Amino acid sequence: MRMIDIIQKKKNGETLSTKEINFMIEGYTKGEIPDYQMSAFSMAVYFKGMNKQEIADLTMAMVNSGEKIDLSAIKGIKVDKHSTGGVGDKISLIVVPLVASVGIPVAKLSGRGLGHTGGTIDKLESIEGFNIEMGTKEFIDNVNKYKMAIAGQTANLTPADKKLYALRDVTSTVDSIPLIASSIMSKKIASGADAIVLDVKVGSGAFMKNLDEARELAKTMVEIGKSLNKRTVAVISNMNQPLGYEVGNANEVKEAIKVLSGEGAEDETVVALTIASYMTVLGGAFEDFNIAYKELEKIIKSGKAIDKLKELIRIQGGNPDVISNTDMLPKAKYHIEVKALKNGYVEAINAEQIGIIAMLLGAGRKTKKDKIDYSAGVTIVKKVGDEVKLNDTICILHTNKESYNEAKKLALEAFKISKNKPEKIEYIYDVFQ
Ligand code: URA
Repeated sequence: MRMIDIIQKKKNGETLSTKEINFMIEGYTKGEIPDYQMSAFSMAVYFKGMNKQEIADLTMAMVNSGEKIDLSAIKGIKVDKHSTGGVGDKISLIVVPLVASVGIPVAKLSGRGLGHTGGTIDKLESIEGFNIEMGTKEFIDNVNKYKMAIAGQTANLTPADKKLYALRDVTSTVDSIPLIASSIMSKKIASGADAIVLDVKVGSGAFMKNLDEARELAKTMVEIGKSLNKRTVAVISNMNQPLGYEVGNANEVKEAIKVLSGEGAEDETVVALTIASYMTVLGGAFEDFNIAYKELEKIIKSGKAIDKLKELIRIQGGNPDVISNTDMLPKAKYHIEVKALKNGYVEAINAEQIGIIAMLLGAGRKTKKDKIDYSAGVTIVKKVGDEVKLNDTICILHTNKESYNEAKKLALEAFKISKNKPEKIEYIYDVFQ
């Protein structure tokens, strides 16, 4: 078998066999197939697509390229969630304790942020002492005992995806539905969950900029999950403005505490409750989505959900007092208020740009080696639909850097202020299951 023939076949829009896909991914993982051939292949897929069987085969070939985590020692249906990436996306911080508080085991492997999107692990590490490094045994023991654990990925999961994703990033082939779907699903399957809830973001801060593409991606991932006997639900949520009011690390932890205490922003609360509801239904705690949603709202009101986050912080080495005293979280030196230049209504907030601003202020990494300033970030003061008057504060930049003028300029540009009040935006567009 030769890689050039596989590229040629895909270029002509033909279907690849399981054997051909396995040959390609094995060869690429071992370094026998070079990046330039894999780039040509990715571009051929971008233009010609893949059928369901090919996508399932590609997913499994990437799962089999590395280690797989065996969670069979955890009792019950293990439910995982994954977001396709957003700005101000602190949903994992909220749903892990929330779902665990009804007894459904959540074994969450999370990543760090890169570029304009944040990562759950960085956010949690803004809590002093919070430890995300643990061996498989401790991870499994914690899930059995407390129904939850959040750890960074240490095992050599899906090395083929790691290599291919880095290559796609520099060859303009990220936004291909078969490639995104197989990339995400391979990681979820290798990390051992029985059921998966996918949060597919659509809008200015997401990979998928329009709803039709997001629907296609959601449908494709649900089909892959089902074909591999994993119960899978995909929720399509709005990323046309940052989620909630906070973008950064420590400030996002503060906001997650608010949501779990019943005082969260409306969009953040609705998306978190929706994801958590599907997780608990897949885990077998509730019969249907509507019952789950109502019960989880009650759990938040009762204080049980915030107590569970407190427990998570305690068992993973942080000081649980941070829940009642968020002043213990890192604080920035400068807080720069950005003011509106005219009267009107916020029509849109460019979420990707806000993510870039947060990164420039110190909250994110340009390269993997950069260090994060946990106290840096952006507070959105006016959300889409809010009325603004000339000189009203629309957002606040938090940083320890003195050179914040560029960020301030970009922040002004990120807000589109129009004369007419926009229609109320939807937080959840669709659900595939
Ligand atoms: N997230 C992933 O893990 N993979 C992609 O291809 C895109 C987003």
